[in-house]
Formats: sequence, structure tokens, C-alpha cells
Amino acid sequence: MVRVGRSTMEAWLGDITTLEVDAIVNAANSGLLGGGGVDGAIHSAAGPGLLEECRTLGGCPTGEARITSGYRLPARWVIHAVGPIYARHTPERSAELLASCYTASLDLAFERGLSSVAFSAISTGVYGYPLGAATRVAVEAVRGWLEAHPECAMRVVFCCFDERTLAAYEAEFARHTIG
Ligand code: APR
Repeated sequence: MVRVGRSTMEAWLGDITTLEVDAIVNAANSGLLGGGGVDGAIHSAAGPGLLEECRTLGGCPTGEARITSGYRLPARWVIHAVGPIYARHTPERSAELLASCYTASLDLAFERGLSSVAFSAISTGVYGYPLGAATRVAVEAVRGWLEAHPECAMRVVFCCFDERTLAAYEAEFARHTIG
């Protein structure tokens, strides 16, 4: 765990649909109408009401996020963030778009006074973002956001679906606790 002011960042191994946090962050696509991976798991666990609400949103551009209710999920809210498809952008632009997913999601959570948010590892699956690079972007973006919002006490969980992802986050945290 890494402390940033009154907030914390931690990595957790497991299925994000089981987490009892205020909001879970889905790795969605710009259509916001579901898909595979964590998107599929979240829609399956939330039930049809989630897709019905998503249909009213009219999609979401890459790098941005939208918020809906959590329906049958233990989490009250789902934040749908659309990460970059790595091969479609320069590495620099992909990093900008990925960082924006994290900060836009935290903005939405902060606006609603939420105090616990769990992120899936956005873009590191189907969207092909190299895990190490994505993990660094994610942790640095979240840390920067938390430092810029010292008044909030946010619990941020990076939900890792496999050991490899967990190890990447723990290695990145070690860089932040030493540095
Ligand atoms: N809980 C937590 N993490 C999960 C779960 C789950 N139940 N299922 C998958 N993951 C992890 C993957 O192992 C990966 O680390 O989520 C991360 C993101 O992978 P993807 O789901 O493939 O998302 P992404 O790479 O952002 O691609 C998004 O894939 O599923 C479609 O509709 C989605 O078009 C969109 C694209």
C-alpha cells in the first residue's frame, strides 16, 4: 500500500465484480455497449439494467469516462473508462489517453463524494497496452491526481486479475515508496 496524503493506493488480486467499493472502473470500449474481458464480466454480474443505462449515454470517446449505477453488483457505481488501443497511437499519445482514463474516473468519483474506487487494468488486455508501461502510467496518474486533491481521502484499489499484473503493480509501488 502507498499512502498519498490522506488517500491510499493498493493492489488486489481477484475479480473486480466481487469488490464492495463505492465504484468499480470498467475497461470499456467507445460504444459502451459491453464486450468481452472485464467489460463482459461486469455486464454479466450487473445484469441487464446496466446495458439499458449504457444505451442512454451515446458512447464515450477514448480517454474519457462515464458513470452509471452498479445494479446487481456489490459496488454502487460503475465508471466506464475507454482506454487507448495501443497499436492505434504513438506511445506518447497512448500514455496521455490512458492517464486521462484514470484522472477522469477519479474526477467522476470525487464529484459524487465517493471514497473507494477499484480500477481494472485498463487497456492491458485486448487493447494491447504493454503491462509494465500501462502500470507506470496508471500509478503515476493516480498519484498525481491524489496529490492535487489533498482534501480528499480516497481508497484506490488496482484490481489485478492475474499474478503477473499484481507483480507489475507491486514493483511500481516499490518505486514510489523508495523514490
Ligand atoms: N476482474 C478484474 N479484471 C479483469 C476481469 C475481472 N473479472 N476480467 C478481465 N480482467 C482484466 C484482464 O485480465 C486485463 O488485465 O482486465 C484487464 C483489461 O483487459 P480487457 O478486459 O481485455 O480490457 P482492455 O484491454 O481495456 O480492452 C477493452 O475489450 O472486453 C473488451 O469491450 C471491451 O472492447 C473493449 C476491450
